[in-house]
Amino acid sequence: MASLRWLLLLLPLILLESFSSSVMAAKTRHFKWDVEYIHWSPDGEESVVIGINGQFPGPTIRARAGDIIAVELTNKLHTEGVVIHWHGIRQLGTPWADGTAAISQCAINPGETFVYRFEVDKAGTYFYHGHYGMQRSAGLYGSLIVDVAQGEKEPFHYDGEFNLLLSDWWHKGSHEQEVDLSSKPLRWIGEPQTLLINGRGQYNCSVAAQFSKPPLPQCKLRGGEQYAPQILRVRPNKTYRLRLASTTALASLNLAIGGHKMVVVEADGNYVQPFSVQDMDIYSGESYSILFTTDQDPSKNYWISINVRGREPKTSQGLTLLNYLPNSASKVPTLPPPIAPLWNDYNHSKSFSNKILALMGSPKPPRYNHRRIIFLNTQNKIDGYTKWAINNVSLVLPTTPYLGSIRYGINNAFDTRPPPDNFPKDYDVMKQAPNSNSTYGNGVYMLKFNTTIDIVLQNANVLAKDTSEIHPWHLHGHDFWVMGYGEGKFSEKDVKKFNLRNPPLRNTAVIFPFGWTALRFVTDNPGVWAFHCHIEPHLHMGMGVIFAEGVHLVKKIPKEALACGLTGKMFMSSKHN
Ligand code: C2O
Ligand code: CU
Repeated sequence: MASLRWLLLLLPLILLESFSSSVMAAKTRHFKWDVEYIHWSPDGEESVVIGINGQFPGPTIRARAGDIIAVELTNKLHTEGVVIHWHGIRQLGTPWADGTAAISQCAINPGETFVYRFEVDKAGTYFYHGHYGMQRSAGLYGSLIVDVAQGEKEPFHYDGEFNLLLSDWWHKGSHEQEVDLSSKPLRWIGEPQTLLINGRGQYNCSVAAQFSKPPLPQCKLRGGEQYAPQILRVRPNKTYRLRLASTTALASLNLAIGGHKMVVVEADGNYVQPFSVQDMDIYSGESYSILFTTDQDPSKNYWISINVRGREPKTSQGLTLLNYLPNSASKVPTLPPPIAPLWNDYNHSKSFSNKILALMGSPKPPRYNHRRIIFLNTQNKIDGYTKWAINNVSLVLPTTPYLGSIRYGINNAFDTRPPPDNFPKDYDVMKQAPNSNSTYGNGVYMLKFNTTIDIVLQNANVLAKDTSEIHPWHLHGHDFWVMGYGEGKFSEKDVKKFNLRNPPLRNTAVIFPFGWTALRFVTDNPGVWAFHCHIEPHLHMGMGVIFAEGVHLVKKIPKEALACGLTGKMFMSSKHN
């Protein structure tokens, strides 16, 4: 049987459950990474991807809370710069290690080496990825997992764990995508060819062919060691932790395990009040831990599936197998792979988001804010180019990184006029804008140190009629409390509906079509922090803003992080450090 053949090929790739056993105190973990383009087949079609030390996705970093991570990164891309962002790590005291080109540092030049040194202060499921141009779309990403500190315990029990890093894949290279997105008229990148689980997927075929609708051929995984799915091997009647993170360029995902319930216990490195679901949404930039118990018929295997949400899916589902031992991994599940809720069933998504609440005992938000900033998200035109704008400003990064230019008061590095805190009162978020023109900008939201900031993300209609899209917004340098979600235009009376009791702490939050999302955070981390939509093409088209707080308190910025761009050369001869 063809379906047996592929499974036999997978046997060497089986993911073993890992049990934490190492007994070690806080320490520095050193890594030496070469970043370079490699040939790879993420989905059976050979492509060029950005690999780390010859592998895709990049190596998983595993550490304990309190450890120092030291990554010595050498750029072997030959003709382009590179940086790596440690998504979800707050970089307390090390804002220069945040890995955002033109914000926290200069891109690392070809042939150069840069050392990222930072503390992973909080246990949780994180990841890392490129943050220059569209290098994340080119495959520059990997997992970063932080276990609880020595002698501490998680607030839940499990017998074993697995880690799934979710992404989406295009056959068109990231450079061509960049050109397409920057063209007049816009050439949209379209839907991904393949969904990847730990960098592995199947294009135009299905490993569950006998169930696939529309019918797809059975995958021939000959030579498929790069893309054959990794199987999750479990024993009956045990509880497993499944770590999930999404670094998709575009797709919002829905994940389910055939026949099994999932209990959500962690979101973005923060514990949540456990709740049980049959399927769950994961937006780009988010991470979760779920627990599942292997309490189903132990003579069977089960599918784990991911599906596209919030956009009309044109991509077949991503699949892997839950293999109950001692069954053979080649035993095809009798249940079909779980099917996602309808892609535009937003009520289903909203109900999931609203279930996420902080675990009792988590830090609570201050009761009042010092400043509220409302961000209107619109699709716009500038000289005929299609862009995204926030309060009518489409972000274009400067040549000199903000962190150094603000810290040392370099003139003319960026526009020092404050960008707008709000949008015109009469703007109708439910309709196409009467005048959709906006402007480019690189101004900074200067936030007073140690104050409480409320952010209201306001969604709106795009350039097309009756259309509004999902945007998962991610904040660097902080976790924020998600105070609430709402429909239509945010108004003063919505403040009464804010959740002051148990809002979840997160670093990424979604705005639903035609809705708003309110966030609160305290500006207690000196640095310059990006806040942006985590959809790669949207950020590329200007969908982000920059926050700066307490920058005068930042000490010791490595010179390599500063010396680039129009004004950065001033650092070359100076004794700033
Ligand atoms: Cu994972 Cu600025 O993003
Ligand atoms: Cu977006």
